Amino acid sequence: MHVRLATADDAEPIRAIYNAEVLGSTVNFDLVPRTLDQQQAWLSQHSGAHPAVVAACGSTVVGFASLSPYRLRPAYATTAEDSVYVHADHRGQGVGRLLLGHILGLARQGGFHSVMARIVGDHHASIGLHRSAGFRVVGTEVEVGRKFGKWLDVALLQYMVPPGHMAQPEPARTSREVTVGSPAARLVRHDQVAVSTPRTPAESNVAISDRVLAAASSRGSARHAPVPSPSRSPRSSSGSMPNRHRPIAAPGSADM
Ligand SMILES: CC(C)(COP(=O)(O)OP(=O)(O)OC[C@H]1O[C@@H](n2cnc3c(N)ncnc32)[C@H](O)[C@@H]1OP(=O)(O)O)[C@@H](O)C(=O)NCCC(=O)NCCS
Repeated sequence: MHVRLATADDAEPIRAIYNAEVLGSTVNFDLVPRTLDQQQAWLSQHSGAHPAVVAACGSTVVGFASLSPYRLRPAYATTAEDSVYVHADHRGQGVGRLLLGHILGLARQGGFHSVMARIVGDHHASIGLHRSAGFRVVGTEVEVGRKFGKWLDVALLQYMVPPGHMAQPEPARTSREVTVGSPAARLVRHDQVAVSTPRTPAESNVAISDRVLAAASSRGSARHAPVPSPSRSPRSSSGSMPNRHRPIAAPGSADM
């Protein structure tokens, strides 16, 4: 078993794992299965600061995890939302833990300050998985969803990146260098903001967060701005076509 970044070839197995839950459970709030086109668009949105990874046994994909933007307003740029899905035949064997650990590692490397999980209220496996990885429950949205004739609560869980784990950006030399890497590094590099040397890890995190926000504000937060889509509700992509030109995952593209 190994975990690697997802590629376009993973669209079909990811889609199969995801659609099984669309049709058979309330763990996500989609009502209509994804098409292959939609899954490919999702994959193209999940790269760079908001990656998708797969767990594979040889060439067989048995699960996936991703980071997505948490909210569209620029001040949320240092928070991401995670998703973890394991094929039903491979649950209870540590695959979810492996995937979540990997995606949290990427969140730490990527310079995020916190990671949110939104989990349907009675989903003990996912809540247990996230709690075991260091998330804590920070709230409940009551009866915000409805699927299969039932009102559904959503539990909000949060993982705070430990001080000292955020990436330290380095000065960019060319604009090409900003096309990959952390949201912090990318924004700071792109705007050529001078990087000072903070005295403590906590100061380092705060300093980087502030630079990310300053850069996002001064740039109008183009990276994190949503693509207007009148037919698309903030949390559901059902019935609407993803925008293929969106450069990164849009808020609401976490798989819940
Ligand atoms: C939630 C999910 C990802 C867990 O993956 P998994 O590979 O079965 O989990 P793991 O075997 O790695 O278990 C890791 C930890 O998760 C928790 N956990 C997993 N299954 C659980 C269950 N049925 N009940 C309670 N806790 C559970 C436990 O804390 C477990 O640690 P432990 O084995 O030491 O007790 C998997 O059930 C799944 O894909 N479900 C459908 C998709 C989904 O709901 N995704 C989350 C959307 S919010």
